Amino acid sequence: MIHDWNARFADNMQEYGGYSIGKLFDLLKDPEIISLAGGLPSPDMFLKHEMRLVSGRMLDENLEGVMQYTAIKGEQKLVDAVLGFLRRDNIDIPADNLLITSSGQHGLDILGRLFLNPGDTVLLDRPTFAGAIVAFQMQRPVFEGVDIEDDGSNIDGFRAKIEELAKDNRKPKFIYVVPDFQNPTGITMSLEKRLALLDLSREWDIPIVEDSPYRDLRYYGETIPSIFSLDQERGGGHVIGLYTFLKLFCPGLRVGFKIGPAEVIDKMTNIKEGNVLNTPKYNQDMCAAFLTEMGLEEHLSKCVKYYREKLDVFLETMKACFPAEMGVTWTKPEGGLFLWVTLPEEIDTNELFYDAIKYKVAFVPGSVFFGENPANNTMRINFSFATKEELAKAVERLSGCVRNRLGIE
Ligand SMILES: Cc1ncc(COP(=O)(O)O)c(C=O)c1O
Repeated sequence: MIHDWNARFADNMQEYGGYSIGKLFDLLKDPEIISLAGGLPSPDMFLKHEMRLVSGRMLDENLEGVMQYTAIKGEQKLVDAVLGFLRRDNIDIPADNLLITSSGQHGLDILGRLFLNPGDTVLLDRPTFAGAIVAFQMQRPVFEGVDIEDDGSNIDGFRAKIEELAKDNRKPKFIYVVPDFQNPTGITMSLEKRLALLDLSREWDIPIVEDSPYRDLRYYGETIPSIFSLDQERGGGHVIGLYTFLKLFCPGLRVGFKIGPAEVIDKMTNIKEGNVLNTPKYNQDMCAAFLTEMGLEEHLSKCVKYYREKLDVFLETMKACFPAEMGVTWTKPEGGLFLWVTLPEEIDTNELFYDAIKYKVAFVPGSVFFGENPANNTMRINFSFATKEELAKAVERLSGCVRNRLGIE
């Protein structure tokens, strides 16, 4: 038996605690609990028939290929399909600017390894995606956050923060944003702010990381150009784009893609060589088929209609169950899978979580979505997984739980 494993762990791993959300999920095994906690797409939207069909054909036609190692940067079929998928969104890039990864989370891990030394600064929204915080944390950076606003990141706040850091000779390595239907708030960044963020990036020579898993899940309003495409219009080179297929297609396959300047993609590829080597061919071929032969546009329209109905039910029930006098507010997203609830300051959702389980409902306490100084009176709600009936019931239970905490009838 080795004496004291902990003393042998790398410095970066000594304090590293991984994903705290995962530990909360262990408490949700009771089938009576309606969970609004995960970020799961609904299995109702899984293309099960198409998956079986393509899978059977693939295994019949090329079983040996599926069982073999494959290209590190990505299978050609998927690379071509992704480049086409991006052109549909006004992004026209050569294959040198693209890397296939094993999920969105894999891209975040690669990015952290590529850019961050211990003590380096990352500028981000408050709140922001917890998975990004967890991935970057492995390199022990310092997070500097600015409160997000109703129309997205506070760009003036980012500027002020950069100026303040410059006085200490600190400069963020990159700015991390989720501009479309942000996880966890559901907030979307306005066009003006996207342009202002690009100005800021140019002025201070700081790259932008645009993480965009939800872009195609818009239920209301007009699509806003991605920051990557706006940058391309100005000559490009300032933005690294992170995408994943998993919310639109199926999380089980673990495939995503990253786009950016060729020298960044080359280095990200080197890191992929050192961690997962290649992404399974089967998974990549399934994703290529998803983009090219499973009726993509029709599927997306179906998802939009289906999730919009759930969002509507959720928002209507919230309005009915949380009258203004309770002092509870929530975001009203135009798309995505999440919304953000803010409770009166005296309620700590890290504690409320355990009350809520007794009321047979679950959410993610907001604190995990902050790189520093969490707002503990917040929670993230997912509205894509539970059925409409369950959503309505869950809101009623949540309201009962909060009323109980506030001591009101
Ligand atoms: C903003 C954001 N980025 C990345 C990911 C990771 O996606 P994946 O499941 O592909 O690892 C998620 C998943 O919830 C996300 O919300």
